[in-house]
Amino acid sequence: MVKLTIRNLSKSYKDKKRGRSSALKNVSLDLDINGIFTLIGRNGAGKTTFIRIVSTELLPTSGEVYLDGVNVVENPKDIRDSIAVIPQEAELIPWMTARENIYAYLLWRGFSFKEARERTDSVLSRFKLEKYAGKLPRKLSGGTKRKVLVALVISSNAKIIFLDEPTTGLDPISRRELWEVLNDLKKEHLIILTTHYLEEAEELSDYIIILNKGKLVKAGTINDIRNEIGYPYAIKIFGGFNKNIKLKGKIVKKNDGTFQVFSDEKSANNLAKKLIKTKVKFSINPTSLEDIFYMLVGDINKEEENENE
Ligand SMILES: Nc1ncnc2c1ncn2[C@@H]1O[C@H](COP(=O)(O)OP(=O)(O)O)[C@@H](O)[C@H]1O
Ligand SMILES: [Mg+2]
Repeated sequence: MVKLTIRNLSKSYKDKKRGRSSALKNVSLDLDINGIFTLIGRNGAGKTTFIRIVSTELLPTSGEVYLDGVNVVENPKDIRDSIAVIPQEAELIPWMTARENIYAYLLWRGFSFKEARERTDSVLSRFKLEKYAGKLPRKLSGGTKRKVLVALVISSNAKIIFLDEPTTGLDPISRRELWEVLNDLKKEHLIILTTHYLEEAEELSDYIIILNKGKLVKAGTINDIRNEIGYPYAIKIFGGFNKNIKLKGKIVKKNDGTFQVFSDEKSANNLAKKLIKTKVKFSINPTSLEDIFYMLVGDINKEEENENE
């Protein structure tokens, strides 16, 4: 377990055109985390700002951050050996092969030539990347490049790994492959991840925080969040049901003509019994993160509006 304590964290950027814009507003958290910890939110919600501050790249405007017992704002050097970061839109160095990229990174992190060589070989084999080791990045697919980047950051053995939107822009197959890698890595590392793909967050996360316009909206396991919003179940009704059936809960009519009823366990059970009698087609599932996000803050694909101070 790694302890993450954040008190009243705020960050505002000075911007010549727009004046000051605040990217994080009074975020507070106190958690023991392991596995995969995911920040979700729209573009502009403050995810990258959060990652950059917690990983010591950026100073906050105000507030305190403690990661694994270290005050990262005051003593950033004390945490740097334990963390490794892949920033959003990170690229491999184009004139170096996959192997050279990893090897150079390890030398830069202070490993000896011998140890850097051994670690490079072992991480390439662990990720089954040997056949790409001698290739330049432009010869690699998007998914393989992303895997090399992940291999690179974990080669240093950092306990805590930050990945800012590692799967954005990847095709579905590469994305699933990377999920497998992350699920394997989380056994030994704490992974702090951001994404705006909600099914990805739902699939991978042990803990989720939802940011909206720089504010913390919800934090918890997906089950905590489901229960907290009061609608842990989603019943989908495929049209044409008996209008006399009383629907209890939150009802959403979808564009495709289906109804979705979000409710608690008891009401879901009662409704299901009635629907069975009327022979209407329906399905019951735990409420998806996508639906939860929609209820809390609206459409994930909408661009965050900028609020100036
Ligand atoms: N270097 C910067 N200078 C000015 N504004 C910035 C800078 N970085 C981010 N912002 C603004 O801060 C807000 C949050 O951005 P960011 O943390 O990148 O969000 P996300 O990663 O969730 O998309 C946005 O409104 C963005 O335009
Ligand atoms: Mg970002």
